[in-house]
Amino acid sequence: MEVIRTLAALRGRLKGEPLVACVPTMGNIHDGHLSLVRIAKSQAPVTITTIFVNRLQFGQGEDFEKYPRTFEDDCAKLEAEGNTIVWAPDEKEMYPEPQTFYVDLPKVSNKLEGRFRPGHFRGMATVVLKLFNSVQPQVAVFGKKDYQQLAIVRQMVDQFALPIKIFPAETVRAEDGLALSSRNRYLSPAERKEATRLREAIIGVRDAVLGGDRNFIAMEYAAGALLARHGWNVDYVVVRNQRAVLRPDNTDKALVILGAAKLGQTRLIDNIEVQAP
Ligand code: PAJ
Repeated sequence: MEVIRTLAALRGRLKGEPLVACVPTMGNIHDGHLSLVRIAKSQAPVTITTIFVNRLQFGQGEDFEKYPRTFEDDCAKLEAEGNTIVWAPDEKEMYPEPQTFYVDLPKVSNKLEGRFRPGHFRGMATVVLKLFNSVQPQVAVFGKKDYQQLAIVRQMVDQFALPIKIFPAETVRAEDGLALSSRNRYLSPAERKEATRLREAIIGVRDAVLGGDRNFIAMEYAAGALLARHGWNVDYVVVRNQRAVLRPDNTDKALVILGAAKLGQTRLIDNIEVQAP
């Protein structure tokens, strides 16, 4: 596996490659990321996993400084998975001068994650556009774990007519159902045990939806209250449509239940898609 650090070397290496699939990450590679690499490999002979902890998408008081950086380990896992190239620019390489141009996002991006993490999606979209321009892949893979991120990237690719096919990947979970996340390592043993409740609360809503209930507000409230009773600091548990991640109207059947809540210092997110009857 090749490790490339500079944009110039990346461009040199990729010159003339006809089909490249890209997996953007912030490192601390786990089985969720590796499942994306597998999808990338099924789509293109050359796969590039990017590793860059993007300061622009972290808010004040968020975990940019303590975000786990485990480069050697990451490379070992990616190599074992058969990934072709790791592109890992440092901050000076990615932002040789302070970034003053940003992707300007539509208002819907201020909802849910966008509301609780102001500026997050703007920083994310800006670096993803820059990664796309640097790698110029034909295919890019994103996880459904970050459901709004996937939706925003898809809309950005459509509206800017970027010649890139976006592949969604299902959420990979631990045996007890907790969605794999680099942030899980912040959890104490007791919190790690409790952490599965976020998914359980979402499943409760899903089962109600499957049963034909469309009183979403009541379900959302009950799920949030359940988490709060167990010591969670709840940002939201909501039912949205899959298409735009907006409040469903009476005809929407393809739905997704999304949740975000803090357990101690650690903020976790999860979601489950559901087809209403
Ligand atoms: P990061 O959190 O490292 O995630 C990289 C990719 O892995 C994202 O597409 C994310 O949705 C996916 N992913 C994370 N956990 C997953 C899981 N348990 N199952 C399946 N896929 C999972 O998302 C980012 O980085 C950044 O915002 C980035 C897009 C790289 C821009 O900086």
